[in-house]
Amino acid sequence: MNGRNQPWRAIAARVLQGVENGQSLSQSLPPALTQVAPEQRPQLQAVCYGSCRWYHRLDAELRDRLSKPLRKPDRIIHQLMLVALFQLRYSEQPSYAVLNETVEACRALDKPHLTGLVNGVLRAAEREGQPEPADDPTRFSHPSWMVEKLRHNWPDDWQAILAANNAQAPMTLRVNARRFRRDDYLAQLQDAGIEATATRFAPHGIQLASPLPVDRLPWFADGAVSVQDEAAQLCTTLLDLAPGQRVLDACAAPGGKTCAILEACDDLQEVVAIDESADRLPRVRENLDRLDLTATLKQADAAATDQWWDGTPFDRILLDVPCSASGVIRRHPDIKLLRRESDIVPLAAIQLGLLAAMWRILQPGGRLVYATCSVFPQENHRIIQRFLKQQTGAVLVSPEVPWGRDMGAGRQLLPDPVSHDGFFYAVLEKDHS
Ligand SMILES: C[S@@+](CC[C@H](N)C(=O)[O-])C[C@H]1O[C@@H](n2cnc3c(N)ncnc32)[C@H](O)[C@@H]1O
Repeated sequence: MNGRNQPWRAIAARVLQGVENGQSLSQSLPPALTQVAPEQRPQLQAVCYGSCRWYHRLDAELRDRLSKPLRKPDRIIHQLMLVALFQLRYSEQPSYAVLNETVEACRALDKPHLTGLVNGVLRAAEREGQPEPADDPTRFSHPSWMVEKLRHNWPDDWQAILAANNAQAPMTLRVNARRFRRDDYLAQLQDAGIEATATRFAPHGIQLASPLPVDRLPWFADGAVSVQDEAAQLCTTLLDLAPGQRVLDACAAPGGKTCAILEACDDLQEVVAIDESADRLPRVRENLDRLDLTATLKQADAAATDQWWDGTPFDRILLDVPCSASGVIRRHPDIKLLRRESDIVPLAAIQLGLLAAMWRILQPGGRLVYATCSVFPQENHRIIQRFLKQQTGAVLVSPEVPWGRDMGAGRQLLPDPVSHDGFFYAVLEKDHS
């Protein structure tokens, strides 16, 4: 495909097709953005995110409007119509423009025989308005399995979680404590005309009233602040960091928490940051460089300790395991399409395996913080319970904190519609015996 000659909505349809086929937006969107004029990029991005956010609802409507599914080679026109429906239902775009440009994009995608169908379906959609959702997955625009799992796991909260997943996430900053006090940076923002407030729970957090490009933030390039959700920032408040400690960040990329650790405590002996992904590890280096921080980076499977560990135990370990990311769906709405119910059991096995492996390299008297950005207990407190059953000498610490819910074996934050993401933390200490 020669993107430069394609209308932006044809490119949006291709991005959505990529997500349907298992590609994440963070993989497929950056190359797509280079194929359109700079002034079209915000719209392309907003439409791709929005079409994923509302995919299940829009797709139910579109399937109802089609007398039969499109043939496989014409599937791209299904995605093109989803993009158009997203705009009709959730944007201010005038409908005549959506209709005309979608028909034009249908031609550009080399499907002139389907322009009549596209025109007819979208005209009817415009005339008849959005149908009442037939069921909860359609109403909340989530896959059925997620709705059922959340209903089962969170009988009192599932609807609030689903609604929060469809909200716009705030932009939150972590002030680099080595450079600024939070109040001073808030004053800098005020001087720059940027509305912001201190976060409720994270000591260095600032939430912006509306998102903006980072280059508009005072001294961003010089390392004054980083973009990080409030819940993610809380990791440093649980690690009980002190000078002289050797700290491991076992699943580190892109390095948000590695940098938070280094900012939170001067004079740590060493911070070792591991990630198995060769693509993601350079992001840790970029973040460290911008913030002028130092860590030892290693590309490795953290669990394969014989391949990277020097034999000296760590005083502190942060284990921010790979997970379903079900707590951050509002930031990554493609997760609704990418995740499968069958992913959860294998993920839980990986999480328990990583926890057991990291435990072996924790110093007696040391502390391990287990973290996920998931709201599924299978990946969270049930992992901790399973671990405590199999591991002697592991002591669960229940921190006295004003956030989240005590799950008996860790604390759960559910996604908050106006502040932090969904997150889970558990704190474990290794006794000296
Ligand atoms: C939740 S993300 C970490 C986010 C990071 N802690 C931050 O705050 O910026 C999980 C990371 O674990 C990495 N990962 C997955 N399995 C791993 C393993 N066995 N060893 C090391 N890293 C792993 C992934 O590449 C991914 O970057």
